[in-house]
Amino acid sequence: MRLSSKVGGIAPSATLAIAGRAKALQRAGVDVISLSVGEPDFDTPAHITEACIAALQRGETHYAPGNGLPGLTEAIAAKSRDQNLIPCDPGQVIVTAGAKDAIHQAMQAALNPGDEVLVLTPDWVSYEACVRLADGVPVFVPVDSDTFQVTDALLEAVTPRTRMIVVNSPSNPSGAVLDAQSLGLVADLCRDRDLVALSDEIYERLVYGVPHVSLASLPGMADRTVTVNGFSKAYAMTGWRLGWAVGPKPVVDYMARVQSHTTSQAVTFVMYGGIAALTGDQSSVEGMRQAFDERRQYILERLAGMGYRTAPADGAFYAFVEVGGDDVAVAARWLDEARIAVTPGSAFHAPGWLRISYAAALPRLAEAMDRVAALG
Ligand SMILES: Cc1ncc(COP(=O)(O)O)c(C=O)c1O
Repeated sequence: MRLSSKVGGIAPSATLAIAGRAKALQRAGVDVISLSVGEPDFDTPAHITEACIAALQRGETHYAPGNGLPGLTEAIAAKSRDQNLIPCDPGQVIVTAGAKDAIHQAMQAALNPGDEVLVLTPDWVSYEACVRLADGVPVFVPVDSDTFQVTDALLEAVTPRTRMIVVNSPSNPSGAVLDAQSLGLVADLCRDRDLVALSDEIYERLVYGVPHVSLASLPGMADRTVTVNGFSKAYAMTGWRLGWAVGPKPVVDYMARVQSHTTSQAVTFVMYGGIAALTGDQSSVEGMRQAFDERRQYILERLAGMGYRTAPADGAFYAFVEVGGDDVAVAARWLDEARIAVTPGSAFHAPGWLRISYAAALPRLAEAMDRVAALG
């Protein structure tokens, strides 16, 4: 059968491939410690689940406005203004089926065939795929290999065809959080070269001792930045498929056009859970952040004790570890011999590194580190 060559050129998600192999081993009864997926191991806080159940019981099972329930777009705009210092109103918000969907829609809305998109590497796997699905051309620009901050290499990568830059802070996979200088460099470039920025801030609530700053809060950036965020990581709501974008109205309106012909809207009763998440008690978010921080400190200490260099793990829930050489072979050895599933850095354009998700209980992390140590 003749199928789309565009889709054929897109690799399936490498993180899911490793997780799939790990799951197959687990099904066969092997005690695999899975540290490969980007998913909190906590359950969604009860008040959020209850709000969704109540919505279902009230019969909130019908179509909702395409950009999202007014209560949710208002809550997102208020949060974006108050916490992220992004000037915006609810008309600049679109609620989507997860942050991933928002990224896809933003690329569809903003790009024309052949437009180049700067992607800072190491990069999360779906940016490249979304750029290619929008007929754009990804241009990969590495961050500094010690600090994981933006360097002048970014300026050298710009061509007359450059249209967009993707920024992800805190970063998946490195855990790095961009500092004021990096964000300033990105903002200057966007203003000088009239670029659109896509700022993926889904890990914003998971920072450890450093501030998270939204790119769109910098002078002149709200008019050219699509800020993507969601509920998956902060509220342990990965399976709910609920995210959003806040951006200049013309881009959001184009995203709404795409959404109107694809998913139509985020799921109605799920959005009631989103309202409860944003407007309700935030103590569970802080509780999960503290648990991640404890695990982060533990795993970094163990890795350092074994002589491994790690990226500055200031955010998200990943330790990014330099192993040198063939990272795919190292990850395969960790799985085959130590029964630990991690993701090779090559999946993120960072050969020689491994991404370890520490979204697992401390005793499992301890066991995993013992197994790595035993590998020698
Ligand atoms: C950097 C980054 N952005 C976006 C997403 C997608 O999040 P969602 O579950 O809201 O689609 C992920 C999920 O792993 C991620 O790591």
